[in-house]
Amino acid sequence: MLTLQIILGSVREGRGGAAVARWFEEAAQRDARFRTELVDLKALALPLMDEPNHPRLARYTHEHTKRFSHIIDRADAYVFVTTEYNFGIPGALKNALDYLAQEWKGKPMSIISYGGISGALRAAEDLRRVGVALNMVPLNHNVVAPLYRQQCDEAGHFSPNPTQIEAARDMLDALAEWGAMLRERRMRLEPAGTVTAATGP
Ligand SMILES: Cc1cc2nc3c(=O)[nH]c(=O)nc-3n(C[C@H](O)[C@H](O)[C@H](O)COP(=O)(O)O)c2cc1C
Repeated sequence: MLTLQIILGSVREGRGGAAVARWFEEAAQRDARFRTELVDLKALALPLMDEPNHPRLARYTHEHTKRFSHIIDRADAYVFVTTEYNFGIPGALKNALDYLAQEWKGKPMSIISYGGISGALRAAEDLRRVGVALNMVPLNHNVVAPLYRQQCDEAGHFSPNPTQIEAARDMLDALAEWGAMLRERRMRLEPAGTVTAATGP
C-alpha cells in the first residue's frame, strides 16, 4: 500500500480549498491502493522558512522542521490542492516546499487546481516548475476546477462534475503506477530511508 499525501496549500480564514481537498480525500480513501493523509498547512502553521542550513543538507535546527520532515518523508506520492493568488501559488505552499529537499525527492506529484475562470492553471504551472526543482516527478494527470465556487454549496461541500471525477480516477491510477515504481527505485538507491543528514560544511 502506498502513502498518498494530499497537501492543502491555502491557509487563510474561510478558505475554499478545504472543500476541494475534502472531496478528493474521500475519493482517495475509497481506493485500497492508498493510505491517505491530509497535510493541512494551516494546522501545521510553519513560520516563514527560518532554517540556517540549506535544506538539502537535512541539518534541521527547529522542532517544527523536524516534525514537518518526518511527515513529508513518509509519503510515496503527493497531490497538491492549490488555488492561485495573483497568478502564482499561495505563499504558504511555496514556504512549505522550500523547507525540505530530500523528503520530496523522487516521488510523483499531481495537482488539483481550483480558482476563477482560469482554474488556477498558472499556479499549477508554477508548482510543476518548483516540483522539478525539488526533484519530484510531476505527472500529466491533474484535476482542474475553474469557477469552483459554483460547485460549492452553503455548507462548504464541493460537488465534482463528471470530468473532474474521471480526471481524479485517472490521477489515482497514475499515482499508483508511478508511486510504486519510484518507491522501488528509492528503496534500491536509499535502502535505509530517504533523509540522510549530509556531512559537508
Ligand atoms: C490574494 C488573492 C489573490 C487572488 N488571485 C487570483 C488569481 O490570480 N486568479 C484566480 O483565478 N483567482 C484569484 N483569487 C480568487 C481565488 O481563486 C479564490 O478566492 C479562492 O477561493 C482562493 O482559494 P482559498 O479560498 O482556498 O484561499 C485570488 C484570491 C485572493 C484572496
